Amino acid sequence: MDSQIKAFVFDVYGTLFDVTAVKEECEELYPGHGEAISQTWRSKQVEYFMLRQLMGNYETLYSITHDALKYALNENKLKSSKENEQHLLDAYLHLPLYQEVEKVLTALKHQKLVVFSNGSHDMLDPLIENAGLKDLMSEVLSIDEIKQFKPTPASYQYAVDKLNLKNEEVLFMSSNGWDVSGAKSFGFRTAWINRKNLPVEELDLEPDYIFSDLNGLLKWE
Ligand code: LAC
Repeated sequence: MDSQIKAFVFDVYGTLFDVTAVKEECEELYPGHGEAISQTWRSKQVEYFMLRQLMGNYETLYSITHDALKYALNENKLKSSKENEQHLLDAYLHLPLYQEVEKVLTALKHQKLVVFSNGSHDMLDPLIENAGLKDLMSEVLSIDEIKQFKPTPASYQYAVDKLNLKNEEVLFMSSNGWDVSGAKSFGFRTAWINRKNLPVEELDLEPDYIFSDLNGLLKWE
């Protein structure tokens, strides 16, 4: 089964990059509220793209990320400003890679490595460039091209169409349970990067592999 894999496809936020790192920037601007803002910011970002998908009311993930930030600041009764919001959104373009990512992707560079994200190119491309990953990735795929968010089947179909592969030829990595479940439901081989040591989602969609970080992928080195 493993020999069928022709592309290693990676989710971005939470999988390659540590989205929780924005809490430092939030704490600097709003002392004592960094953690609370960061938690609500990420949960609202996910909630909003899911809601917009269900409502058929698409906006880019960059725009949704800005909206989620505004909500997080309002929920904490914090005074916002265009400057503060832009400063925090810039942090999303400079997120740190998890510590093992560069080493593992370099070890796998003989494989076809692909990014596939709900992020729009205006936030994805600078993030990947700033992290020095551009030369390692053969493709950067954004659902913005079809305006259908993961975990819709249409989003994963877009990825296999762009890669010209069969579903079972893709090994999809995500730390997000909703994403790795959507990919499994669609027919990808899946490796859940369970960074937070969480239980498997109760969706009858057991991942094919469960690793605590990307080092588990070195079996394909
Ligand atoms: C991504 C995040 C939203 O698609 O999981 O990169």
